[in-house]
Amino acid sequence: MGVIASAPAKIILFGEHFVVYGEPAIVLAIDKRAYASADIREDKRIYINSVELGISGFFEGKKFHEERGGQIAHKTLEPLNIAIQKVLDRSEKSVGVSVKVRSAIPVAAGLGSSAAVAAAVATAVGRLLNLELSKEEIFRISYEAEHLVHGTPSGIDPTISTYGGVLLYRKDKGFAEIKVKGEIPLVIGDTGVKRLTGDLVATVRKRSKQYPSIIKPLLKVGGKIALKAVEALETGDLYALGELMNINHGLLCAVGVSDVSLERLVYAARGADALGAKLTGAGGGGCMIALAKSNKLVQVVDAIERVGGRAFVAGMADEGVMIES
Ligand code: MEV
Repeated sequence: MGVIASAPAKIILFGEHFVVYGEPAIVLAIDKRAYASADIREDKRIYINSVELGISGFFEGKKFHEERGGQIAHKTLEPLNIAIQKVLDRSEKSVGVSVKVRSAIPVAAGLGSSAAVAAAVATAVGRLLNLELSKEEIFRISYEAEHLVHGTPSGIDPTISTYGGVLLYRKDKGFAEIKVKGEIPLVIGDTGVKRLTGDLVATVRKRSKQYPSIIKPLLKVGGKIALKAVEALETGDLYALGELMNINHGLLCAVGVSDVSLERLVYAARGADALGAKLTGAGGGGCMIALAKSNKLVQVVDAIERVGGRAFVAGMADEGVMIES
């Protein structure tokens, strides 16, 4: 019998990029999920089919055989192969596995799609092989996969996909749950511009090397904003939260990761009475988020769509990675 597992997408509320340098960041899981189903194979192949991406193929030893997807198939499926291989090694079983990935998470948009898929795949394969993988183990395996996707991940994406909820995260120090007072009414706006997280992380690194005395203090201020935002979340102060989002966005512009597609959406949201708006994730395109009073959410969605974005209201998800059946 096959196994299905799922894991949530995320939005970074505060502190993307700064978190790579050890600063605290706030991340929350949203109600868009990636699903992985896993079945045993009689041969030793690791077969992976990513339905929405239209990519499939199998790994046999070190060799990859493409079925669909062309040149990018190998590179796209390799992180999942690594995750599956790690689970197989842990089980010491000499079997093959077929994995099918279905996902409602936009890809390369800053919503943590690759980490969610890796966590769901590791969990489904683990259960298929009768392993009791702890959340810490699932996080570790997804982190290794993420490492391949973009060289120096902070670990924030695999953490939220694994644990869910709303978290204050620090690289190498772990995370703490934030007790949010009331709702956080958020709109997500997708520019539709795809980009690679690794390239944006490299942009910040380059700027920081070029102007260390200017950029390093900005990174620290990014961390201070996240800590101030924890207070606003715990007291339910949406006005403070919105202002802090705007300041955070300003810093992200300063380190070089906003672009015209994001600015258009951010300003459209602010013009429609959003309390605050910022890019979320790596930037350079991808998604932005806007905080608005509940009765203004539709107005903000409309404003973002009028300037060419795709917008939806974000629901929060308490559940991290889980077995569906
Ligand atoms: C990507 O979702 C967030 C970044 O801060 C990179 C990372 O933390 O690994 C841009």
